Amino acid sequence: MTVRIGIIGSGFMAHTYAEVLTRYTQHGQLVAVAGGRRAPGLAEQYGIQAEPTVGALVARDDVDAVIITSPEQARLAQTRLAAEAGKHVLAEKPMAPSVAECDGMIQACEAAGVTLMIIQSQRYRGVHRRAKDLITSGRIGAVREMRIWSLFSADWSVPVVRDRPWYNDPDAGLFMSQTVHNFDTLRWLVGSDARRVYAHVRSYGGHGIPNLSCAALVEFESGATGQVWVNMELPGQTFPDSQFHSQVVGDTGLLDLDGYTHLDLGTADGWQRVWEQPPFDPLNPLDPVRLESFTLQNQAFIDSIRLGQPPQVSGRDGRAAVELAEAALLSSRTGKPVDLPL
Ligand SMILES: NC(=O)c1ccc[n+]([C@@H]2O[C@H](COP(=O)([O-])OP(=O)(O)OC[C@H]3O[C@@H](n4cnc5c(N)ncnc54)[C@H](OP(=O)(O)O)[C@@H]3O)[C@@H](O)[C@H]2O)c1
Repeated sequence: MTVRIGIIGSGFMAHTYAEVLTRYTQHGQLVAVAGGRRAPGLAEQYGIQAEPTVGALVARDDVDAVIITSPEQARLAQTRLAAEAGKHVLAEKPMAPSVAECDGMIQACEAAGVTLMIIQSQRYRGVHRRAKDLITSGRIGAVREMRIWSLFSADWSVPVVRDRPWYNDPDAGLFMSQTVHNFDTLRWLVGSDARRVYAHVRSYGGHGIPNLSCAALVEFESGATGQVWVNMELPGQTFPDSQFHSQVVGDTGLLDLDGYTHLDLGTADGWQRVWEQPPFDPLNPLDPVRLESFTLQNQAFIDSIRLGQPPQVSGRDGRAAVELAEAALLSSRTGKPVDLPL
C-alpha cells in the first residue's frame, strides 16, 4: 500500500516535507499542496498539483493523509477538515496554541478513526535517539534530574518573527514554538509525565517580541526534576554548544548531549564520546543531514498508517508539550507553581 499525501502550507517546512517525501521515504507519495502564496511554486518544483483551498485538497480521493505545516493557529480547523474527510493527519509542532485546541484535534481524529501524529523532530535526531536508547537500556539508571537549554542571539529571532507574524502571539508565538521542543525532549528522556511547573517567562527588551526568555522548573510524577532555560535574545552572540543542549543525571551515570553536536556518557570509568552529529545547516530545507530526522518521522507516520499501528508521537504527546508551555506562561503570570494536568 502506498500512502498518498497532501501538504497544507507551502513555506519552509512544506518544502522540507516535499523533499523528504520525494527523495527519501518509502511507500509514500506526494500528491498535492494547498495553502499560501508559495503553493503553486512548490507544486511546480515537485511536479504535483496545487489546490486552491485546503477543503479542495482534503476532498481529493487520491489523498489518504495530510501534513499540516501552516501556522499553528490554523491547526484545529484544518485537522477537523481533514479528519471529517477521512484523512490521517501529521501535524507540525506546536500541536496547537493551547491545550483546549489540542483536545479538539484529538477528539476530531478519534471520532473519525484516523491517525493523528505530531512532529517532534528532536526525538528523531541522532543524538537524542541514542540518548533515549542509553536511558531505556539502563546505562545510567533511573533519571533523577535533567536540564535542557536552547540559546540564540536576537540576530536569529528578530528576522524569524518578522517573516512569521504569528510568532508575535503572546499566548503562544515563538515562545511556544521553541519551548515545545525543549519540554517534549525533557518529558520523553525523563520518561514520566510532569505534575508541577514553576516558571519565569519574559523578554528582557528592545525587540518588541513577547516571551523570548524562559526559566522553568518541572517536577515529574517519577520524582525527577527538570530545568528548562530558553533565551532567544542574547546580545549579538551565543554560547558554544547551546542550541539544544541537555545534561541528564541518572542513578548510576550521566549524559551530556547537544542535538546538533555530540552525545557523551559519564560513568565510574570516566567520560566517553558515544556519537558525534555530522554538521548541517538548520536553515537549509534541502540539507540531507538535516532531513534525516524528518525522513525518519515521516516514514514512521507512513508505516503507522500502512501497518495499522499507533503513531510513535501521539496527540497525547503533542498535547503534553503544549501543556507544559502553557503552564509555564500561567505560572509566570500568576507568580505561582501550576499543578498539572491543566
Ligand atoms: N519541526 C521543526 O523543526 C520546525 C521548524 C520550523 C517550523 N516548524 C513549524 O512549522 C510551522 C510552519 O513554519 P514554517 O517555518 O514553515 O513557516 P512558513 O515558512 O512561513 O510557512 C508557513 C506556510 O503556511 C502558509 N499559510 C499561512 N496561513 C495559512 C492557512 N491559514 N492555511 C494554509 N496555509 C497557510 C503560508 O503562506 P504564505 O506562503 O503565503 O506565507 C506558508 O506557505 C509552524 O507551526 C512552525 O512552528 C517546525
